[in-house]
Amino acid sequence: MASDTHTLEADLLDRVAAAPDLQALEAERVAVLGKQGAVTALLKSLGGMTPEQRQVEGPRIHALREAVTEAIAARKATLEAAELDRRLATETLDMTLPVEMGPQGSVHPVSQVMDELAEIFADLGFSVATGPEIEDDWRNFTALNIPESHPARAMHDTFYFPRPEGGGDAALDPGFATNAARMLLRTHTSPVQIRTMQAQQPPIYIIAPGRTYRSDSDATHTPMFHQVEGLVLDRGIHLGHLKWTLETFLKAFFERDDIVLRLRPSYFPFTEPSAEVDVGYTMVGGRRVLGGSDGWMELLGSGMVHPRVIAACGLDPDEWQGFAFGCGIDRLAMLKYGMDDLRAFFDGDLRWLKHYGFSALDVPTLSGGVGA
Ligand code: PHE
Repeated sequence: MASDTHTLEADLLDRVAAAPDLQALEAERVAVLGKQGAVTALLKSLGGMTPEQRQVEGPRIHALREAVTEAIAARKATLEAAELDRRLATETLDMTLPVEMGPQGSVHPVSQVMDELAEIFADLGFSVATGPEIEDDWRNFTALNIPESHPARAMHDTFYFPRPEGGGDAALDPGFATNAARMLLRTHTSPVQIRTMQAQQPPIYIIAPGRTYRSDSDATHTPMFHQVEGLVLDRGIHLGHLKWTLETFLKAFFERDDIVLRLRPSYFPFTEPSAEVDVGYTMVGGRRVLGGSDGWMELLGSGMVHPRVIAACGLDPDEWQGFAFGCGIDRLAMLKYGMDDLRAFFDGDLRWLKHYGFSALDVPTLSGGVGA
């Protein structure tokens, strides 16, 4: 019997060692240790032995099972390691090959222009600020020197939210009058001026791109549109800084040196003086091309921040002065990339997006061209 177990053990170990792959090894395991397995049968035979026989055979059979189990585990580890080596050797990636990724989808022109703005203004020392699209009446109007009765409110076609029960939500900001706490969809990005001045000490150099809303819809107006706000607040800031900043921005944005600006006196309640900024264009083959000054088109609103606005934010207008501007991003995109219907921006038509969209891999940089 003793020599039997020895021969069997030698035989089983040989078979385990010879298993060519993980599948064959598993078959061996089942044949030896499975329910109908050879070693399992031996273990079962212990039941029919006399106690004396069992005392001798028991430890032998258990040792045999142990030895085979260990051999299987060892062989398994070897085969797995070999399999991994084989995969590592065959599955190579050549990192020097050009990327052959056909990106699905594209970057929307509005996002592209926002990235371009951030890139250009970062170079001038501006950071990007944001604010909520659901804004309170006070920040959207009152703090911007547009009091309750001001006719400018009518110009904004505001989407108001229903008043909360009981008139106003004083908990929102205990200082707000009932109407000031009324919520609305911001009609411009100018409330981000207020938020920024409330939150940080000057000097402030920010742009704030984002969504804005007015109840208006035709070929050149959509109820949701995009604006970028600019705000500078520092000591000794004057109109010359505003003009230089806008000129530098627009030259970089349209990637032309012959951009000419015209500042036209205008009126905004939150700036004094205020200026509408026109950009010059040239007629080329019946098309308007920016640059030169054959004609002018209106591009943005701007001015020196009104002292009342600075004071509303708790800052001293005698110490801090600044300029602000607000510009339609959709219009910037249309002028730069030649789209003519604003509504197409928001239709989500894949063919339009394929045609006008940008590759996710082309990141705007000043050196590589912001509109690359
Ligand atoms: N908020 C103004 C608008 O939406 C634009 C503007 C911004 C004008 C900042 C002057 C200064 O029309």
